[in-house]
Amino acid sequence: MTEMSSVDDLLTVRNLGKTFSDAGGLSFTSSSGGVRAVDGASFSVKPGETLALVGESGCGKSTLGRLLLRLIQPTDGEVLFGGRDITALSAAEMRMMRAKMQMVFQDPYGSLSPRRSIAQIISEPLEVFGLVKSSRERRDRVAELLTQVGLSPSFMDRYPRQFSGGQRQRIGIARAISVNPQFIVADEPVSALDVSVQAQIVNLLQDLQAERKFSYLFIAHDLAVVRHIADRVAVMYLGRIVEIGPKKSVYSMPQHPYTQALLSAAPEPDPDRKANRIVLQGDVPSPSRVPPGCSFHTRCPIAKDICKVDRPVLREVSPNQFSACHFAAPNPLSQAG
Ligand SMILES: Nc1ncnc2c1ncn2[C@@H]1O[C@H](COP(=O)(O)OP(=O)(O)OP(=O)(O)O)[C@@H](O)[C@H]1O
Ligand SMILES: [Mg+2]
Repeated sequence: MTEMSSVDDLLTVRNLGKTFSDAGGLSFTSSSGGVRAVDGASFSVKPGETLALVGESGCGKSTLGRLLLRLIQPTDGEVLFGGRDITALSAAEMRMMRAKMQMVFQDPYGSLSPRRSIAQIISEPLEVFGLVKSSRERRDRVAELLTQVGLSPSFMDRYPRQFSGGQRQRIGIARAISVNPQFIVADEPVSALDVSVQAQIVNLLQDLQAERKFSYLFIAHDLAVVRHIADRVAVMYLGRIVEIGPKKSVYSMPQHPYTQALLSAAPEPDPDRKANRIVLQGDVPSPSRVPPGCSFHTRCPIAKDICKVDRPVLREVSPNQFSACHFAAPNPLSQAG
């Protein structure tokens, strides 16, 4: 069973997959069938909702985020945005769709072109979609956007190098919201920033969402980062979503051993939980050689024989919480409540 979707979803993903052929990548395994970066992803995002996507480096988070915006073309599956399959749109139709879906990048240093002024950077999407008619109007919009992200409008004629990482990320955010998108993929938007600045940027993203009611796919390595901003959490391992559910259930009653391990590794204010720390065996296997059966079985502390041969699918283990583990048990607390 996969996660249910309904007509009022903003975004619905069905069996989405991406295989990178070896030729395009840096992989040395030319005999394999390429890198299966995303495999069989199915989920939905509601208007105004934040879905956090969490997992270790290389598990396919950025690839999944880029597939949702069709910055890369999927190998298989569908992405429905407002009910339309965007994987089937023409280039011209997709260009118009882009106004509704924007991205905030991880690296605030590399993602802003150094030779363009802040006004040019922020107003570029506005120009592409013909949303400003004069240079006067353009400067007014940029001033407004700078104010909304907590920067002075007087910055608009400066260049990216004159700003700190946190300020650059605010500029990237102003650019993303300039066209009033309904959906934003925020790909590790704070992981390149100083810890002291991270909370300010997360708060800004949250405040803008409260005002403008758009949805986020919020990508992070760390479950701690998304604890405050997420409504629901999806956990990814080697290209597959292994657990997805409401934040409360995933944090308090994680059902997949991988989610449990990620949570036990996160900084934990409650000293009782530290005692139950789960240390995973070994390294993440190469995505070009995904283990058969449950792809987590090589590192799983509770794996049995069945896990080596039989691939578990997502099952509903408590209301709206799905786990892809043969041994996930229905959550007794949620049934009582
Ligand atoms: N353009 C590409 N060509 C070939 N392989 C790719 C390409 N982009 C990503 N990959 C591979 O796909 C897998 C998933 O990569 P992806 O960048 O989506 O992971 P990630 O979870 O975002 O990692 P990180 O946390 O480090 O950002 C990796 O094995 C990566 O090497
Ligand atoms: Mg990434």
